[in-house]
This record gives sequence, C-alpha cells and structure tokens, in this order.
Amino acid sequence: MRKILLVCGLLVTSGYAFSQAAAPIKPDVKAGEAKVKAVCSSCHGMDGNGPNPQYPSLKGQKAEYLKKQISDFKSGKRTNDNGIMKAMTATLTDQDIANIAEYFSTKK
Ligand code: HEC
Repeated sequence: MRKILLVCGLLVTSGYAFSQAAAPIKPDVKAGEAKVKAVCSSCHGMDGNGPNPQYPSLKGQKAEYLKKQISDFKSGKRTNDNGIMKAMTATLTDQDIANIAEYFSTKK
C-alpha cells in the first residue's frame, strides 16, 4: 500500500513540474538592463564587474545560478552580514529576477 502511495505521489509531483514548465517566465534582457542600471549597478557595475572587490562579480554567471542566489537573498535563505542584498532584492518580482539573471549571464 505504501508503495502505491509513493508512486501516486511521484506522478502528482512530476505532473506539477510539467505544468510549471509549460508556462516559463520569458526573460527580457532590456528590462533586466534597466533594472540593473537603477538598482544594482552602483555596486556590481553595469557589466556585473563592479569596481569594488568587496562586491562579487556577476558577469557571465549562469542565469540559473543568479536566479537562485537572488531568490535566496529575497526569501532570506541566503544572508550576508549587513543584509544589503535582502534590501536590494526585496521588491524584485520573479520576472525582474529572470530578466536580471539573463542580462548578467550575457556579459563576458
Ligand atoms: C550596496 C551594494 C549592492 C547593491 C546595490 C547590490 N548588491 Fe548584490 N551584492 C552586494 C554584496 C556586498 C554581495 C556579497 C554578499 C555576501 O557576502 O554573500 C552581493 C552579492 C550578490 C550576488 C551573489 C553573487 C554570488 O556569486 O554569490 C548576486 C547574484 C547579487 N548580489 C545580485 C544583485 C542584484 C541583482 C542587485 C540589484 C537588484 C544587487 N545585487 C545590488 C552588494 C550589492
């Protein structure tokens, strides 16, 4: 009986993953650039290669990686000492995050 429940659970979760994948967020690099200019560039630079070694370089990172880090800062799962990145990501929507991640991933 337990095995049957497990199989049902798997089917339901994979179905869920599939329906999620059916409507992915389409990243908009131009919108990402505008957001970076307004919010992130003072520390990370427009090309994700900030002037100050204190701020990590974001250029050319994989979009998936950046999305995860930005989302984790927003949710509080990832923290940094002064909480600066939580403040920076607080108002970003999932669409903003996808846009920004795509934008930085295109920088070399
Ligand atoms: C006031 C300066 C400042 C601003 C503005 C800022 N950041 Fe950061 N960011 C930092 C610091 C400092 C860290 C390092 C945090 C740590 O110690 O983990 C960081 C880390 C990151 C990381 C993690 C990089 C890695 O490889 O682990 C990402 C991604 C990031 N920032 C994206 C952004 C985005 C996107 C914006 C604009 C919405 C932004 N940051 C605005 C200072 C800033």
